[in-house]
Amino acid sequence: MAATVRPEVPAASRAAALVGRLTLDEKAALTAGVDSWHTAVIPRLGIPALRLSDGPSGARGDTSPQGVPRTPSICIPSGTALGATWDPDLVAEAAAAVARQALEKGARVLLAPTVNLHRHPLWGRNFEAFSEDPVLTARLAVAYIRAVQGAGVAATVKHLVGNESEFERNTASSDIDERTLRELYLLPFEHAVRVAGVLAVMTSYNRVNGCHVPDDARLLAGVLRGEWGFRGLVMTDWFGLSRTAEAARAGLDLEMPGPARSYGPALAAAVRAGEVEEARLDDAARHVLELQERVGGLDAPPGEEAPLDRPEDRALTRRCAAASIVLLANRGLLPLDAGALRRILVVGPNATRPAITGGGSALVVPHYRLTPLQVLRDRLGPGCEVVHEEGAGEGGIRRAAELARGADAVIAVVGTDPDVEGESFDRVSMDLPGDQDALVSSVCGANPRTVVVVNSGAPVSLPWREGCAALLQCYFAGQELSSALVDVLLGEADPGGRLPTTLPVRLEHAPAFGSFPSESSHVRYAEGPLIGYRWYEARHLPVAFPFGHGLSYTTFEIGPPKLSATTLGPGERLRVTVPVRNTGGRSGSEVVQLYVAPPGGGRRDPGGRLRPVKELRAFAKVHLAPGQAAEVELELGERAFAYWDVADADWFALQARHPVSVTHGHDAPLHRERAGWYVDPGVHRLLVGRSSADIAHAAEVSVSGGGEPLDPSLPPD
Ligand code: BGC
Repeated sequence: MAATVRPEVPAASRAAALVGRLTLDEKAALTAGVDSWHTAVIPRLGIPALRLSDGPSGARGDTSPQGVPRTPSICIPSGTALGATWDPDLVAEAAAAVARQALEKGARVLLAPTVNLHRHPLWGRNFEAFSEDPVLTARLAVAYIRAVQGAGVAATVKHLVGNESEFERNTASSDIDERTLRELYLLPFEHAVRVAGVLAVMTSYNRVNGCHVPDDARLLAGVLRGEWGFRGLVMTDWFGLSRTAEAARAGLDLEMPGPARSYGPALAAAVRAGEVEEARLDDAARHVLELQERVGGLDAPPGEEAPLDRPEDRALTRRCAAASIVLLANRGLLPLDAGALRRILVVGPNATRPAITGGGSALVVPHYRLTPLQVLRDRLGPGCEVVHEEGAGEGGIRRAAELARGADAVIAVVGTDPDVEGESFDRVSMDLPGDQDALVSSVCGANPRTVVVVNSGAPVSLPWREGCAALLQCYFAGQELSSALVDVLLGEADPGGRLPTTLPVRLEHAPAFGSFPSESSHVRYAEGPLIGYRWYEARHLPVAFPFGHGLSYTTFEIGPPKLSATTLGPGERLRVTVPVRNTGGRSGSEVVQLYVAPPGGGRRDPGGRLRPVKELRAFAKVHLAPGQAAEVELELGERAFAYWDVADADWFALQARHPVSVTHGHDAPLHRERAGWYVDPGVHRLLVGRSSADIAHAAEVSVSGGGEPLDPSLPPD
């Protein structure tokens, strides 16, 4: 297997020397794929192809012309499920397993992770992304990338940027103001580059503020390579390139897939015509070869696919799935006492067709599948009759209710599937498909001991949520979903998940409701920085279940935080120590969440910006046995208190000509000449809790700052 990725390629790398020996046409050939998954071979210099593979929840390897993987893979939980673990260490373990499988399939580049944000419940690819929160997304992405690259495979963070809907995704313009871009949508990419050292970046299909991302020099040359110092490979999304010279000048290196259309020979022609400098082509070819060199891909061509189904990967995936299942409500029913059950009823389409992953390029064909119904029958054994009624079709509602009346408990497994949640289309409704809501209502009405399991990759409406005895959100939890779900139902595993995304009461409350997906081909991110809980809190809107929420089978006490200082000055960092104790009778996990509330949070700041009421800035998951206590250490730097000021140099010139500003009784807003990260001086509140709505303790820290932008080399906390 390939060695661990080297952190830095030396200046006089083999790749750089090879570029010096390539002809212009050979260099251009390296800038485009030759087929779906390979870069070009240069036989004269012994340069082999590099194989790439999707994707976030498994190494798909080669695919049929219809896009179906040819060989099976381990299928880890999808993005939202990984997001629900709130556990970077566990995400790292799962990502390392995917990377090992990529190597077994001869691939040294993995097209993952997906770090776009859950802007709207109906985005078709929500399931593939981690969360509505940029910090949770960023932390998990860093863990994912480090683990993949630690196993000798290059990670590809995608899709830069503004790809939060599928509707007209190749042409729509995501219109996002600069502050929102920096504070939310670019943040996970910034972490991927600056903290994790990701080796490759994939551009998105869409335009951003009117500019097609592969041609966006401000974004690629300016922010990515200039400000963040990215030295790796920038590739297109598949078939996502349309202009040659513009993209080359912007800093795009590789067009995928092949055969070449806008790069390759077209790029060679653009260089010969003087439209692109040859030095830029040299850089692009060098970026391909450097990546190949870093992952050991210059010495050996990709081999045959040899996918392995290992027991340890099954066990890891099962642990990860259980850690992602969110217990939303429990009115004393769970965990079920297996020994006391004589007859249970199982209803709902996902009891026999669980959705382990979503559709599109993230879809993985696992080595084997089990259904919740099968696993329940196996685990409950002959002592308990497990009656099944899907509950669909004519009379299915009625039959289920009749059967429910005589059962010791009812388990309704409802949800979506890869045809409802997938790539290249958005959902049209937040409701469960078909007549599932009616099915749930009727079995809940017939039997008060009903547990509802929602198996979806994104929020669904839960109109009957007050009427069931227990409610579990089970995201697309990978190949071991069924076993992990039964582990949780029977109390053999604690439900370790916490919501990575708010579950709204109704779609009309969602932040992007008024501007999703697009209007005249523009997706206006009109809610600005108020994504997810930031929106519901600022607007005082009720939610079905808040961001970060999730119950355990045990109970925890979170103690008051201890701060390493009560002030934070330039360049300093603050340590927040939080005591946690398991006060219940079972082992379980708790997620300690630390939010920062700026001075005047929820109102406009001195610059006229509406600041969120509070924002997640740090978190940690602890696993504790009954009675056990631990201290969780969280750290905050200045960026945790900062916001992006777009600044306005013009204002100063205009103000000089019109010195009397009319502010109509409002305070004159603060203006700045230089864009950047700024901190408002003053007392910031630190809120420690178990969800955005369940804050156990507050503390205060006095932060200095204000005049100058923060040093851009500070870690992006
Ligand atoms: C997706 C990418 C994926 C690529 C290759 C595109 O349609 O947007 O995420 O990596 O296909 O399958």
